[in-house]
This record gives sequence, structure tokens and C-alpha cells, in this order.
Amino acid sequence: MWFLRWVMVFMGFVSVTGLGVNWGTQATHKLPPETVVQILKNNGIQKVKLFDADETTMSALAGTGIEVMVAIPNNGLDDMNSYDRAKEWVKKNITRYHFNGGVNIKYVAVGNEPFLKSYNNSFLNITLPALQNIQNALNEAGVGDSIKATVPLNADVYQSPADNNVPSAGTFRPDISALMTEMVQFLSKNGAPFTVNIYPFLSLYGNDDFPFNYAFFDGVNTPIIDKGISYTNVFDANFDTLVSALKAAGYGDLPILVGEVGWPTDGDKNANDGNALRFYKGLLPRLAANQGTPLRPGFIEVYLFALIDEDAKSIAPGNFERHWGIFRYDGQPKFLMDLSGKGQDKLLNGAQNVKYLPSKWCMFNPDAKDLSKLPDNINYACTFGDCTTLGDGCSCNNLDANGKASYAFNMYFQVQNQNPSACNFEGLAKLSEQNISTPTCNFPIQMVPSLSFSLMPSFVVFLVITLSMVMLF
Ligand SMILES: *[C@@H]1O[C@H](CO)[C@@H](O)[C@H](O)[C@H]1NC(C)=O
Ligand SMILES: *[C@@H]1O[C@H](CO)[C@@H](O)[C@H](O)[C@H]1NC(C)=O
Ligand SMILES: *[C@@H]1O[C@H](CO)[C@@H](O)[C@H](O)[C@H]1NC(C)=O
Ligand SMILES: *[C@@H]1O[C@H](CO)[C@@H](O)[C@H](O)[C@H]1NC(C)=O
Repeated sequence: MWFLRWVMVFMGFVSVTGLGVNWGTQATHKLPPETVVQILKNNGIQKVKLFDADETTMSALAGTGIEVMVAIPNNGLDDMNSYDRAKEWVKKNITRYHFNGGVNIKYVAVGNEPFLKSYNNSFLNITLPALQNIQNALNEAGVGDSIKATVPLNADVYQSPADNNVPSAGTFRPDISALMTEMVQFLSKNGAPFTVNIYPFLSLYGNDDFPFNYAFFDGVNTPIIDKGISYTNVFDANFDTLVSALKAAGYGDLPILVGEVGWPTDGDKNANDGNALRFYKGLLPRLAANQGTPLRPGFIEVYLFALIDEDAKSIAPGNFERHWGIFRYDGQPKFLMDLSGKGQDKLLNGAQNVKYLPSKWCMFNPDAKDLSKLPDNINYACTFGDCTTLGDGCSCNNLDANGKASYAFNMYFQVQNQNPSACNFEGLAKLSEQNISTPTCNFPIQMVPSLSFSLMPSFVVFLVITLSMVMLF
């Protein structure tokens, strides 16, 4: 191991010790799990956080030594209120991989931000019992010492009062304060961490009064002064509000893990490569130096959000949702960055041997006569294709009307694997073998869809039938 690590240091690809990434899979075209795992390895990333316990993902991670947080999605919480189901889940998705050369599972994320206000309390009563059942099942299976259950929570579970908006005044949200206290008590008893997602980008999003520079780490003119501590960025202030809330609940020493932090690169006026770069250039060196926050100096376990763009993510929270990746949809790096936190910017190692569809684009047909159906067709294309880069302040916003139509048509055409019938739009579209990208707006070519596990059985049946036919003749 030390040799491998030394080789990686020598080659310059090593990440901040303990740095993790979130690997989401809500994409129309997913990179094969083996390819993603290769990205992790080739960039020295040693920890990954998942949003489920998908078998193909777990198989790809087996034997790599990469530390894994597997997850139970919110829609699985209800089920986990039955202890028998929880035991079954642990057996199928945890202990099965728990062997030498298996998957190095460290955590189980029970739900994902279940107490978000926008969920209208739907998961309020079922999250803690699910957490308890899973941890108890882990304990009963004899793996509870090394595998801890935790609940990734949104930073809106704690707050400071409006009239004393400083980190030291942090408490849990009054409507869930008793529940939160019970939860941290359980986490503490089991030696499990509190997991929180912190998003300086969201502090800025939709809040034009928010001091812009306070979202980053390179200083502000008017810091927030709190009991002699000077806060110059919202990450520290937010994290320390949680530290105070834990302290107020009687668990001031509970370990805190940052489950998600990052910056999107498109889909909003503040979401671009420049701001993402500025954010990571501030964050990573602090993590590398184990700087911590004023109330919690030292190492913080952090998972960046996210590894790869996901073009099928819900955009209910905003168009930026599909652009969180430090890698593009095809596993190629977006910008120079140094995961080791030493400020030596270089391109990360992208996915290898990616198979793309042919160099064919779908575009608006400038000879089209009847334009009355154009809005409906664009709307249709954007319902199934991703048009989130077309909005105000986004990378493709400066296209003219025809260019925007072309963009929408092409995104749909690519999602449909370049099926010729997906480039018609009632005669408004035509094929192009020429790259119609502009200097600021890329018209992507989608990847060849990977043969997923769900396709396998029918493929095998096809193979068996074909083979038996061949043998018959
Ligand atoms: C294991 O996890 C997978 C993927 O998250 C899920 O679909 C499945 O239901 C789980 N297995 C059991 C027995 O709960
Ligand atoms: C929450 O309630 C609001 C207002 O009643 C509603 O618009 C929204 O769809 C609800 N959200 C969920 C996730 O149930
Ligand atoms: C949760 O439980 C409380 C107390 O039993 C009850 O009043 C409330 O309606 C429940 N909420 C939901 C969403 O089921
Ligand atoms: C199309 O052109 C853009 C911008 O020049 C470039 O980034 C992209 O790689 C090209 N795409 C293909 C498939 O050649």
C-alpha cells in the first residue's frame, strides 16, 4: 500500500487524506461503474458516498479498498421501520460484502436530507426508527464496530435566531429539536458521526443580499464577529452553528462529517467554472492543512458533491442541479484543480476508453417554413433532454433563437441515442455532421449506452437462442 501511495505521490495524483466524493447515478447515460472506480483510483480518491446499494456499483468497488458509504433512499425509510426488513437489508447489502477482498463499507446513510422543509414532514416520524433499526441490525450482525449508520441532514435542521445570527447561538430547529436530540443521543451511543450537507452556493442562490465573497474562502471586508472569533466565510459559520447546536443538546463532542459540499458549474448565474474553481481553491488547501473551523480545529471528513454531472436529476431545487460534477457527464475533467490541496492546478485524470456515439448533431432546420409549432417542439425536447444551460447567465444563454432550438433538439436527439426519428420535430429539425458548438456552448455527443445489468438477462436469452439456432443448422 505505501508503495502504491508513494508512486501516486510521485505521479502527482493523490488527494487530500480522507477526502471523499459523492457518486450519484441519475443520468440518462451512465458511465460503467468500473470506469468510475478507475477515475477514483487514478485521482487518488479513497472514499466514496453512494445514494443506494446498487449491486453493479458495489461489485466494481469490491477489492479496491476504497471506503464506501452506502445509502437507503428516503423512499426506503418506511420499510426500515420494520426490524426484520432492516436485518434483511443489512444481510443483503452489507454483510454480504463484508469479507477480505469485499467492499470496504464504513457507513450506511439512512435517508437523504429527510427533514428538508420542502418534504412537508413526510419523513419526520420514520427516520429515527429506521436509523435505530439499521444500526441495531449492524450491531447484531457483528459489524457495528466498523460500520456506522448515520443520517445525512440538510443544514436547515439547525439555525441561529434572527436577532442573534451568530454561530455560537446555534440550536436545532425548534419544530424538530426533541427529535434531533434523540437522534444525536443515539449516534453518540453508537460512536456514529453526525452527517451534514453544507452549501455556500445555496446561501447565495436566490438571495441577492447575501455577501458574495462570504460564500468563498479568500476573505471579506466585514467578517462576522462572534465572541471574539472572526468569521470570514459561510462554511465555517454554518459548521460552527451546528457545533453550537450539538453543544446545546449536550453532545458538543459528537464527530461531524460533511456529507456534501461543492459548487455547480452551470444552470445559474453564479454557477460557472470560475466560481467553482475559486471555491475549491479555497476549500481543498484548508482540508489538506487540517485547518478545521474556529470551534472545531483539526481534521474534518468531507465528501465533495459531486463526482460526475447527472443529466436526469430533478431540477425542482434549480437548474444547477445537473451540473455539480468536478467531472462532466462523460467523466472528463471540467477545469484545473488540485485534489491534494497543494494548489498545483492540473487536469484531473478523466475516464478512459469512453465510447461515444458518432459525430452527429441534430439542429434547427433554417429552411423550415411553418414556425408556429416551434415552441411546442422545443418544450418537448427540453422535457426529455437537458436544456438547463440555456437560462439567464448560463453557458448557452447567448445563442440566438435558432441556436437555442438547435441546442434543445440536439440534447433530445443525443438522449435518444441519435435515433434518426428523434431529429424531426415536425420538419423543424435536420441532421448535421458538422460540430455546431460555439466557443462558449458545447453541443455534446452522448456516450454509447452501456450494457446495464437489467439488459443482461434478455441479452443472454438472445445469445442462447442464437447459439441454439446456429447449432441446429
Ligand atoms: C439492497 O439495496 C438495493 C439497492 O439500494 C435495494 O434495491 C434492495 O431492496 C436492498 N435489499 C434488501 C433485501 O433490502
Ligand atoms: C408540500 O406542501 C406544499 C404546499 O402544500 C406543496 O405544494 C408541495 O407539493 C408539498 N411537497 C411535497 C414533497 O409533498
Ligand atoms: C408524526 O407523529 C406525530 C405524533 O405521533 C403526529 O402528530 C404526526 O401527525 C405524525 N406526522 C406524520 C407526517 O405522519
Ligand atoms: C465540438 O466543438 C467543441 C468546441 O470547439 C469542442 O469542445 C468539442 O469537443 C467538439 N465536439 C466533437 C465531438 O468534436
